[in-house]
Amino acid sequence: MHQLTFTRPDDWHLHLRDGTLMQAVLPDTVRQFARAIVMPNLKPPVTSTAQAQSYRTRIIAALPDIAKSGGTKFEPLMTLYLTDNTSAEEIKRAKQSGIVHAVKYYPAGATTNSDAGVTDIRKAYSALEEMQRCGMPLLVHGEVTDKNVDVFDRETVFIERVMIPLLRDLPQLRVVFEHITTRDAVQFVTGAPDHVAATITAHHLLYNRNAMFSGGLRPHYYCLPVLKREVHREALGKAVVGGNPKFFLGTDSAPHAQHTKETACGCAGCYTAHTAIELYAEAFEQLNALDKLEAFASFYGADYYHLPRNTGKITLNKENWRVPDSLPFGEHKLVPLRAGENVAWKIGG
Ligand code: DOR
Ligand code: ZN
Repeated sequence: MHQLTFTRPDDWHLHLRDGTLMQAVLPDTVRQFARAIVMPNLKPPVTSTAQAQSYRTRIIAALPDIAKSGGTKFEPLMTLYLTDNTSAEEIKRAKQSGIVHAVKYYPAGATTNSDAGVTDIRKAYSALEEMQRCGMPLLVHGEVTDKNVDVFDRETVFIERVMIPLLRDLPQLRVVFEHITTRDAVQFVTGAPDHVAATITAHHLLYNRNAMFSGGLRPHYYCLPVLKREVHREALGKAVVGGNPKFFLGTDSAPHAQHTKETACGCAGCYTAHTAIELYAEAFEQLNALDKLEAFASFYGADYYHLPRNTGKITLNKENWRVPDSLPFGEHKLVPLRAGENVAWKIGG
């Protein structure tokens, strides 16, 4: 197969940041995706519908001209950041706004800008009950923050300690287990009711934890949840090859300036938006499952969010090209995943 044309995809998990940093990264997403679920972990976080509305306005103002003029339309799908204090009224406002599509649950301290996150999920139950009632999805960063739990086990332990009790208490709550990284999460989601789904990143499909240590410490492969063992990568591959609509595309593209990753205590996050759909095409090709890419990238997420599937198309050509060593990022630089290396697919013009 040398060329692939399929329905324009959406990114169901994206970090866009704000201001000049957002302006730097937004064109990469718009080139490939029609819509994206935009993560709310700004500083300060997006905790109210009013904040989500103004963030959305800033994103639309920053869209490249081609997207503004309708050439390739792009729609940011906003989310709220759940805290211990999120009220049921705020959830009602969010639902009514029509622009907030989900609420993100970060366990406090689990990852970048998560300090304001939830300290105990039971504190958020009145908001969660309203979400269950009105059908608003909860997007879960599924890792425990217990420092006594091995960092490679935090997702698996989260299933036992948080996910299972949560779904027992709120059995109709719509839940997306974000950026799953383990066989345990694949099994959990597969066995859960239809309203429990998961996103999978390209980097977790392509790499295991060796990538972080190959020939030295490689900070650009460090993200949270951290890359896992090969058995887990294989389980993610099987999940997408199976064509189960519970599993759909979410890049978790998370830009950090070069100097904040290449340092003694580097930030978590891989910048994949630059080559996102091409990296997924590589992963699916390795799995001999290019025929499954369109539904994973363009259908299942839209169906889950009860949004129409896109009508436009994109074309990918089988063409080796070299990813730049770095990209401009405001006054800084951004090192994309695969920097200085080749990617096997290229999006057509
Ligand atoms: O690696 C990560 N980076 N994981 C997250 O959950 C957050 C993200 C970020 O915002 O940088
Ligand atoms: Zn994320």
